[in-house]
Amino acid sequence: MDAAIKKQALRLFTYGLYIGTAGHGDDVAAGTINWVSQASFQPPLVMAGVKADSHLHALIESTGQFAINVLSADQKGVAQDFFRPSQQDGQSLNGHAFEPGPATGSPLLTELPAWVECRVTDAVKRGDHSVFVAEVIEAGVRDDAAKPLDMWDTGWFYAG
Ligand SMILES: Cc1cc2nc3c(=O)[nH]c(=O)nc-3n(C[C@H](O)[C@H](O)[C@H](O)COP(=O)(O)O)c2cc1C
Repeated sequence: MDAAIKKQALRLFTYGLYIGTAGHGDDVAAGTINWVSQASFQPPLVMAGVKADSHLHALIESTGQFAINVLSADQKGVAQDFFRPSQQDGQSLNGHAFEPGPATGSPLLTELPAWVECRVTDAVKRGDHSVFVAEVIEAGVRDDAAKPLDMWDTGWFYAG
């Protein structure tokens, strides 16, 4: 296989951008992630590729739960704030307000237009990221006019 062509092909996959969160109380983690997809209607499953050495990964493993917060088209700056390790200051994470999710307690960022809370059903631990498959057990929409942030439009790549 030609590694450069493999990279080029994988970078043509389309992605959204999300803030993945997990944990509750004083031990929470949040990170911008793009390796996310719905994976089943019934039961409603999603899957997420999460960096094996991240705090987010550790908390998803220990709690068996996480939340996916959807970024809107005008929230590239918020995405950028969650490339770095998450720092909690009261009810704020990396400078953005959150509230605990009703089903899992995972942080829900109140500026973002939509979220789902999930319970992990399966984990594939292979390579530098693990794939968590999880059932959606709660969901919310704060802004039903929002358009999602499209990875391609940001000029960023996390694929290859
Ligand atoms: C454009 C972009 C997309 C990313 N996508 C993912 C992803 O899909 N999964 C993931 O685990 N980390 C992804 N990351 C990395 C995380 O944003 C970030 O490094 C991680 O949350 C830091 O968390 P930690 O402090 O717990 O290690 C991405 C980073 C960038 C710059």
